[in-house]
Amino acid sequence: MRFSENFIQEVVDRTDIEELIGRYVTLKRTGSNLVGRCPFHSEKTPSFSVSPTKKMFFCFGCHAGGSVITFVQKAENLDFTDAVEFLANRASIPLPRDSAEDTRAGGVPRKRILEMNLEAARFWRECLFDPSLGAAGLDYFARVRRLSPAVIKHFGLGFAPNSFTALRDHMRAKGYRDEELIAAYLCARSQKNNSVYDIFRNRVMFPIIDPSGNIVAFGGRVMDDSKPKYLNSSDTPAFNKRKHLFALNFAKNCCAERMILCEGYMDVIALHAAGFEYAVATLGTAITPEHARVFAKYTKKVIISYDSDEAGQNAAEKAMRLLSEVGTEVRVLKLKDAKDPDEYIQRFGAERFRRVLEESRTGFEHRAEGVLSRYDLSIGSEKLKASNELCQLISGYHSPVERELYLHYIAGRLELPQDVLRNSTEQFIRRRRREQTARESREAQSSVKNYGDMINREASQNPRAASAESAVLGLLLMFPEYRDAVERGEIPLSSEDFITGFHKRVFDAVMAGHRSEAGFRFEMLGVDFSPDEMGRIEKTEMSRRQLTQNGPEVFRSAVAALKSVRRKEDMKSEDLNTRLAYLREKQAKLHKGRTDQDEGN
Ligand code: CTP
Ligand code: MN
Repeated sequence: MRFSENFIQEVVDRTDIEELIGRYVTLKRTGSNLVGRCPFHSEKTPSFSVSPTKKMFFCFGCHAGGSVITFVQKAENLDFTDAVEFLANRASIPLPRDSAEDTRAGGVPRKRILEMNLEAARFWRECLFDPSLGAAGLDYFARVRRLSPAVIKHFGLGFAPNSFTALRDHMRAKGYRDEELIAAYLCARSQKNNSVYDIFRNRVMFPIIDPSGNIVAFGGRVMDDSKPKYLNSSDTPAFNKRKHLFALNFAKNCCAERMILCEGYMDVIALHAAGFEYAVATLGTAITPEHARVFAKYTKKVIISYDSDEAGQNAAEKAMRLLSEVGTEVRVLKLKDAKDPDEYIQRFGAERFRRVLEESRTGFEHRAEGVLSRYDLSIGSEKLKASNELCQLISGYHSPVERELYLHYIAGRLELPQDVLRNSTEQFIRRRRREQTARESREAQSSVKNYGDMINREASQNPRAASAESAVLGLLLMFPEYRDAVERGEIPLSSEDFITGFHKRVFDAVMAGHRSEAGFRFEMLGVDFSPDEMGRIEKTEMSRRQLTQNGPEVFRSAVAALKSVRRKEDMKSEDLNTRLAYLREKQAKLHKGRTDQDEGN
């Protein structure tokens, strides 16, 4: 694999699934999901659903589904790595220069990195309290963020001076080599002049300490509005941002009953300072399944206290899901009149926060209140919609006891009899079951149907080539402009780029039609192709038509994808040829040996 897990994670984190898929499919919002017509099979009623919170898509018709990467793989016929690269380019994330950089830390032991981190934390703390170096940092913590000296010391906060060499020179003097500083993500090497420089500059510094007391990483914040607001250590042999939690070293001592999960360093610090020492935060990343397992190990109950904006609330949805999956009880806080817990405490004080904490909602209540807030319950039709949506929500819970509890809750909120709501919920459950059965039988049928492709016989040996070819052909069939572009050589594509014989024939016929006097006419293909083949060609076009966006850039990338499959195939057969040649040579030698021996006898 060319990319590290982190890189892939970052690419996914920075891809807006709604915007990405919206370029291919017309999506409509329904509740928290988006639906549209599946681009991967023919259908009239939309069964393709996208969840922005889960960053997943799924088709209830053909069972296509997965992440943003899967989507690009399917829509653009790319393999996994190429799809990641495609998304990285879209999000303007620079690709890792080479694998050496990815495994940059190779060779430097974890223990050595922890030593360096400790030394760096000491250095930055001294800078913070050195008026000639750290006045701006201390002013920021003390005056702007209103942290007491005790809190600043408790968290080991520091200040990285506005210099490219301050930390580097300090660490060199302590005997650390440049390569080691780079492995610890404290320094980096300049591409321009190869010099080694400090990564964290002119930032207030937050050390991240694991439960054993090791400093595993750092976060650094600017003191104004410049970007990026926070800079965090990349993963090193000592740090994995998918599992570490900020302030777990303190929280671990008082968190058996409950923990608070917030978004930011400053939220955690404000909460600890106000006496809630069981608060933690993830580090510059959304909560991961690994984090969820850490929570499950330390506590019974997690109270999610994310930012009150939409992004925060969406993230809470994901956190709820991951935490319930590992069996922890989940509560959610919704803070009014403050954007995050830090601001809430600054404004209203610790006592008020304690009360809010006691009134925290269960995951279900949080979701239900989200639904209710979208409707005006004094209007009959709106109330009906709200009750439908809520019953549907409840129908998704498997435990009958849980369902009864939630029915009781919404009966109260909607002022409707619980029996009526129960009936409606049961209808949703039955509908779900029916859909499930229908899905399964469709699936069974289509697996029979796809057994052996009689029209394009080479497709089963070259499935990737065949689907890349279909994409290109579909577009060529739809748009004369693309045929023109190919004909004029603006887009380099020729018969040789096709691997499967059937598709090569289709391409040749389409382009020949295009060059003819009358231009390309679909029905004229009937001259060269059997009715079954015609059906297939039509299907190729139709499935492409399902993608509501088929602009020139889409065509270009489809052609590029096809060429890349072709290249890989060629490489494979080259490989095979060299191997064959080698075997032949070996055989010849053996043969010769044997004849020599024979002669010797
Ligand atoms: N974060 C990050 N990189 C950014 C922005 C945010 O890693 N460019 C992470 C940090 O861990 C930060 C958290 O996301 O603490 C929450 O970000 P945000 O809500 O923007 O910041 P606040 O915590 O509100 O920070 P502050 O109060 O310092 O402005
Ligand atoms: Mn904040």
